Amino acid sequence: MSRDGFGSKLGIIAAAAGSAVGLGNIYRFPCELGNNGGGAFLLVYLLIVLCLGVPVMLSEFIIGRRAQKNPIGAFKMLRPRSGWPVIGYMGVLCAFIIMAFYSTVAGWTLEYIVKAIGNQFHGKELSVIEQEFADFHDMGWKNVLWQAVFIFLTGFVVFKGVADGIEKYAKILMPVLVAILVVLGLRAVTLPGAKEGLTFLFKPDFSKITGSVLISALGQAFFSLSMGMGVLITYGSYIQKDDNLTTTALSVTLSDTLIAVLAGVVIFPAAFSFGVQPTAGMGLVFNTLPMIFNQMAGGYFFCIIFFVLLAVAALTSTISLLEVIVAYFVEELRMSRRWATVIASLGCMAIGVFASLSLKSDTGFTIAGLSFFDSLDFISAKVLLPIGALFIVIFVGWVMGKKTFNEEITNGGKLKLSIKSVIFFIIRYLAPLAIAVIFITGFV
Ligand code: PFF
Repeated sequence: MSRDGFGSKLGIIAAAAGSAVGLGNIYRFPCELGNNGGGAFLLVYLLIVLCLGVPVMLSEFIIGRRAQKNPIGAFKMLRPRSGWPVIGYMGVLCAFIIMAFYSTVAGWTLEYIVKAIGNQFHGKELSVIEQEFADFHDMGWKNVLWQAVFIFLTGFVVFKGVADGIEKYAKILMPVLVAILVVLGLRAVTLPGAKEGLTFLFKPDFSKITGSVLISALGQAFFSLSMGMGVLITYGSYIQKDDNLTTTALSVTLSDTLIAVLAGVVIFPAAFSFGVQPTAGMGLVFNTLPMIFNQMAGGYFFCIIFFVLLAVAALTSTISLLEVIVAYFVEELRMSRRWATVIASLGCMAIGVFASLSLKSDTGFTIAGLSFFDSLDFISAKVLLPIGALFIVIFVGWVMGKKTFNEEITNGGKLKLSIKSVIFFIIRYLAPLAIAVIFITGFV
């Protein structure tokens, strides 16, 4: 089957970085860090990214490029008549789950663009901004509407196959996002009381490292790098035979991590300065940021540009999620791209409505004490992604084996890569062990 449509001339670094960089970096990372002991979390997170980021990402690329198929088709082709495709099915399920709650937050970015244009944060106290955020959640229908708009936008791009254009766009816009984060960071660290925030972020208190911090950092690393569910297998299948997989994985991992840390440097000093609790979760970002803009020259414009960029960053991530489902529908279930996109989008919306509505203060829609929204987040980031990543590295390390690995990573011997044995060692032994140990400590 020809693999045109979405990915034919895709700039793979831009596409993979577009998938990786998103709300996970700017919204979810500060939430997790704030709830998991600050600096201790950052340290564990960076260690995990350093040791596992590139090897796991490479494993996905290798599976995808070797098979030239969606995650389910890939496992079916590489190991026919085996249980391996289950990992692919899990990935598609995970894409639905992540889309459902991710699109809720993505929808908020649209609401905040409108608010920013209307200059609605101007001169307001923190308590007012916080109250308005809470009121917004209580207007369930408005959340659902923005969410629907966002899913529609994603579906439109995935269907039209203009992702190529979007990714080019993202290539320009992402550096602008970095630049704005740097400007915001400079403002944040010079606010009164900012030092406490920097201490919270960068000074690890080792006594805070618990099993739950470990699993949260592992989940956040996989979530942020879009690993463990087949997005990168799907993108790997669009990678040209002469692209360098290792440098691609390295650049994506580095840029994603840089943006997350930058977001931390913006959020925590400002949060401490304004009196937002580091455990405030969603409010940490959505309430702290407008406060920073209020304290900046040109804050009105920065605020609009920032939320537009955040929405674009979220869009390049939701595109990758929807693409996993659509690629499966088209290639395995033989649907037309149009119907595949419509059905996948409606499916995400159907679950997503409940995610959005579960955040209303009066719904009481909880599972084991977590809102439905948080349950989806938990099950995907802390359960499905680690399990997916575990089996992906086992597949490359033990099932595909060293010869195939070397072939793929050197493009059939054309590239020299002195550390390939080290990477293979990590994929075969260290990564499975580390993931399994963290997973078990996290839950036991
Ligand atoms: N990596 C994205 C982010 O950090 O916002 C979210 C994401 C996209 C997670 C795709 C998982 C995924 F497969």
